[in-house]
This record gives sequence, structure tokens and C-alpha cells, in this order.
Amino acid sequence: MTSAARTRSSAELIGAEEPVLAHNYHPLPVVVARARGAWVEDVEGRRYLDMLAGYSALNFGHRHPALTEAAHRQLDRLTLTSRAFHNDRLAEFAERLAALTGLDMVLPMNTGAEAVESAVKVARKWAYDVKGVPAGEATIVVASDNFHGRTTTIVSFSTDETARAGFGPFTPGFRIVPYNDLAALEAAVDETTAAVLIEPIQGEAGVNIPDDGYLAGVRELTRRAGCLFVADEIQSGLGRTGRTLAVDHESVVPDMVLLGKALGGGIVPVSAVVARREVLGVLHPGEHGSTFGGNPLAAAVGTAVVELLETGEFQRRAAELGVVLRDGLESLVGRGVVGFRSRGLWAGVDVDPALGTGREVSERLMREGVLVKDTHGSTIRLAPPLTVRGEELQDALGTLGKVLGQGG
Ligand SMILES: Cc1ncc(COP(=O)(O)O)c(C=O)c1O
Repeated sequence: MTSAARTRSSAELIGAEEPVLAHNYHPLPVVVARARGAWVEDVEGRRYLDMLAGYSALNFGHRHPALTEAAHRQLDRLTLTSRAFHNDRLAEFAERLAALTGLDMVLPMNTGAEAVESAVKVARKWAYDVKGVPAGEATIVVASDNFHGRTTTIVSFSTDETARAGFGPFTPGFRIVPYNDLAALEAAVDETTAAVLIEPIQGEAGVNIPDDGYLAGVRELTRRAGCLFVADEIQSGLGRTGRTLAVDHESVVPDMVLLGKALGGGIVPVSAVVARREVLGVLHPGEHGSTFGGNPLAAAVGTAVVELLETGEFQRRAAELGVVLRDGLESLVGRGVVGFRSRGLWAGVDVDPALGTGREVSERLMREGVLVKDTHGSTIRLAPPLTVRGEELQDALGTLGKVLGQGG
């Protein structure tokens, strides 16, 4: 079976998926077989520069040697205990992650959506136990165009009809306000508010960057209102924007920070809620958990990720190469690009709709050896591994210019 799979062509493998895989994705027609650093290779041996990096789950590139080494070492010692027992890797992971984010306590989970779900539960419990909101009345304020994951509760407060339609009934208790609008947020917050939950930069919405001062404003407002500020840094965090966290650009410390994606080093799913002691301290044994959360393999890889970030090298690279990315995109404005938003090594690029949809541009880039992903309409998202080299980035931007120059 495995050897047969190895000899099948890309077209055959894509065809073989069709009848047996749920159609909840529409991947680009490329079948990746191996990868290293910023490069992936398909089953026919064609190479592509990965300018998506697993939606930021591969911030350190594919198979970073320090991360695979940590994983291999742990695979040979201990992989899973469940939290029924202690394991010898979890304490160090939690200590170092808390120190990296400037917060006190860590709740380890697996996927991003689980971290968000956990934060919703913790915020509600905090509202009842600490703030004194009457039972069952806690509200959470979120932003329009958010993306926090795919569970039933999370899509309950999505404004994307494709993500919601057909999945109700939904979880109550959420108020949606326009993103980047402090006045609207202020109007929505009241004595029932447990938390304000936002992405410091909205990734899926097209790398939507709020005005300077918005995050500091949210911090100020939530402090004044006596509710929690929860920052979903699952896509924006861990070096992507040129700082450890996107909120660091405004020197803001939220009450809860949600991490995922790159925390697993592109190897295993690792997510976490990191928070002030007063907040995560509301959880007691039996009230929340996960069989796999905090497993020794995840903790070993997560610790190695934190270790990479402690050096500051990746944040520095993202900031420096972010200038190359911004300059390159600036030079394409009016030449197929109608506008873009970027911070660090992360950009949402609006291409001229006359030249094609984001999907069509992504397919043209793929044929030229560059992998990206569209978000909505004619917007594509660029998020290369933070290990990408300046020349590779410049080449990819040159390729973007070329495919836009070719038109439809
Ligand atoms: C900001 C944000 N939060 C949460 C999630 C959900 O993460 P996961 O797909 O690991 O559940 C994502 C995924 O794209 C995200 O971008």
C-alpha cells in the first residue's frame, strides 16, 4: 500500500483523494512529498518556495533541526502519559512559555480552536467566580470578520456565513462589534462582560491591521470596565510580526494570550492559554482538560520552540525581512497590486480583480514554483517561514510581479 502510494503521480493521488476525503478543503493541485526549511518538493520532484508556512504553523521552516532533534530525542524516551500522571517535560515548558509572554500560568491544549474554547470557558468562570456576574449571564465581546476556529461555539460568533450556515443552533453569550472601533467596543461592554476577545491582527480576514493605538485602547478600556482582554495570537504570535507577540508592538500585556500553530514547531499540534494567575487560577481539578494537552512530546517540542524564540533571532529576521517584503509589495502597487497590509513577514495583498481571483493568482504562482493561499476575493496572504532568505523573498516577489504582469 505504502510503496504503491509512493509511485503514484500527483494527478493520481489527487484523484484518489476525491471519493474518500471530506470536501471541506479545496487545496491547490500540488502534492507535497518532502520539505526542508522554506522549500517543499512534490511527488514529481518539483520544488516550491513555501510562502504560506502552514498558516504560520511553520514559522521556523519545515523540519528545523533543533525542533526535529528535540522531537526525536523525546520519541525515544516518553511520548504520552495523559495528565493523570505528571511528566518530566511539562513544568519546564510552562515556566519558559510563561516567561516568554510575561504572564504567569499556562493551560496546555492541542489545537488553536481548543485554546479559544478554553479561553471562553475560563473567561466565563472568571466572570462568575471573581467579577460576580450572575450565573448564566456572562457575555464576551468579539470583533466582526474574526477567525478563531471551527467549533460550534466559535462559529457561533463568526460573521462569515460560509463558516456558520447549516451548523446551528449556536452558543449564546457573544456580542459582535466592528473591528478597530473603540467607540463600538465601549458601547458593547457592560457589567455582564467577561472578556473582549480579539485577534491583534486579523489573519484570515486578509491580514487586517488595526490603527495604531487600538490595542492599547482595548487594554485601557477593558481595565477600566473590569473585564478581561483576551488576545488570540494563534496566527499573529511567536515571531511572525517581528516581535514575539503582535501586542508587543503597542507594549500591551493582555490578561490571556492564546497561542497555537507555530508553538508545535510544525511537528505536533500544541496550543496554550497563557494568563495571569488570577485568571487561570479559576480552574480546579476536573473542570477542564484534554487527554493530549501537555503531553511530553508536545512539551518537548514546545520547549524547543520557546528556546528558539528566546534568542530573539527569529523576531529580528521577521522585522528585517519585513522591510524587504513591504518594499517589494510597494513596488507592485499599481502594477497588479491595488493595496496591501503588512507587518513583519506577514502580508495580505489585494490584487487587481481584473487580473483574477486570489485563487487564480495562487494557481499561477504555484505553476511558477511559489506556494501562497488566497483568503477572500482577490486577496492573497504571504507568510513565509521566518527562516526564508532575503533573496528567496525577493525572487518570490519578482514571481508575483511576473504572474500579475501576465494578467488573466
Ligand atoms: C487567529 C486564529 N485563531 C484560531 C485558529 C484555529 O486554530 P486551529 O486550526 O489550530 O484550530 C486560527 C487558525 O487559522 C487562527 O488563525
